[in-house]
Amino acid sequence: MNEIRPSRPNNLDAFWMPFSDNKYFKGTPRLLARAEGMSYFTPDGTEILDGTAGLWCCNAGHGRREITEAIQKQAAVMDFAPTFQLGHPIAFEAAARVAEMTPEGLDRVFFVNSGSEAADTALKIALAYHRARGEAQRVRLIGRERAYHGVGFGGMSVGGIGPNRKQFGAQLPYVDHLPHTHLPARNAFSRGLPPHGAELADALENLAALHGDTIAAVIVEPVAGSTGVLVPPEGYLQRLRQICDKHGILLIFDEVITGFGRIGANFGAERLGVTPDIMTMAKGLTNAAVPMGAVATSNGVYDAIVNGMPAGIELFHGYTYSGHPLASAAAIATLELHRSEDLPGRVRAIEPYWQDAAHSLRDVPGVIDVRDIGLIAGIELEPRKGKPGARAMEVFRWCFDNGVLTRVTGDIVALSPPLIIEKPHVDRLFGTLADAICAVPA
Ligand SMILES: Cc1ncc(COP(=O)(O)O)c(C=O)c1O
Repeated sequence: MNEIRPSRPNNLDAFWMPFSDNKYFKGTPRLLARAEGMSYFTPDGTEILDGTAGLWCCNAGHGRREITEAIQKQAAVMDFAPTFQLGHPIAFEAAARVAEMTPEGLDRVFFVNSGSEAADTALKIALAYHRARGEAQRVRLIGRERAYHGVGFGGMSVGGIGPNRKQFGAQLPYVDHLPHTHLPARNAFSRGLPPHGAELADALENLAALHGDTIAAVIVEPVAGSTGVLVPPEGYLQRLRQICDKHGILLIFDEVITGFGRIGANFGAERLGVTPDIMTMAKGLTNAAVPMGAVATSNGVYDAIVNGMPAGIELFHGYTYSGHPLASAAAIATLELHRSEDLPGRVRAIEPYWQDAAHSLRDVPGVIDVRDIGLIAGIELEPRKGKPGARAMEVFRWCFDNGVLTRVTGDIVALSPPLIIEKPHVDRLFGTLADAICAVPA
């Protein structure tokens, strides 16, 4: 007979936590039980200022009533309906809302459930596009060192963060990487876009010379986030766009963190003045209240695939939950908040204050770089001798224990608060971080 055993209270064993030190965490758990506005609350009610919008995703702040109510309402009307050869109105409405925000010409929206799925979907669409146009030899995908495009095989392969790849061995074939754009000797403590490094895009010319007309697409994050905040050098993305055009290569922007107001415009493409052919998004799309991601493509990419195929299914790709009704409801409510509260405008208004606060850490002993754009800041610490990453991890724990949530990658502290942040929050965030860097041993 099937038996369901009652679980022990407070049992942390069963959940294999992602990207986590499970052994450490389960001995010293740090739990979040509730969230509202700019803050989380621990199970004992301690308030924690959210310096990371969860994981770069709760852009409109936590617990937004408008989003919660939209999800509740939709759950009561229709929990689920397939989108394979069927449709439901709310998914179409959500797609139309997204298309209103994307740069002009990127009007076709394919729904997925996460940033990883968005990255893999974008890569597959790029391959299908070239095949539909009779260029089936274009099978190469170009990523960049230090990039993060999620954890699917496609995203992992074009990604460029060593530990995310080396545990798994097998990668996609036909993948190459551009150099990363981190030039600390020339660009340290730049405010906004660093001045040096546009020429690093020319590495794509070398790859085009090497691989001929076999490159399908280049994928980059407009601002690399997970690796520890790398802001593109002035002119770099423009140069990448030119080289892609010259060689018939599609340009994909992974806007999973730069989308939805994070850098003071709807998308990074708009703020940075370069329009890709394909764009991924997730996180802020639903304020993370329900998982959802999307890929926006140019009309040309869509038309080539959809009109290029005979009648029948045009793209053999999709997820059971593509355009899920609850996620669609959350997206519509979230995008309405973006519009009515002008979240990108709020970011632009507070950005100078944020930038000054971030760069005030320059004089804190052990800080070797500060980078910023929009409501993103990366503060890089001198690593502890022989123990890379240990110092920043202790800073993270010190901040948490003193009521502030930060995020660390290696020895870089990355901050990306909800876009509703106000000046006193900014002061508290950077004040606590400065105290933590001083309190933790070098
Ligand atoms: C640029 C980028 N792409 C893809 C992803 C993966 O998103 P997800 O964790 O939703 O799969 C992330 C996550 O941080 C990201 O920053």
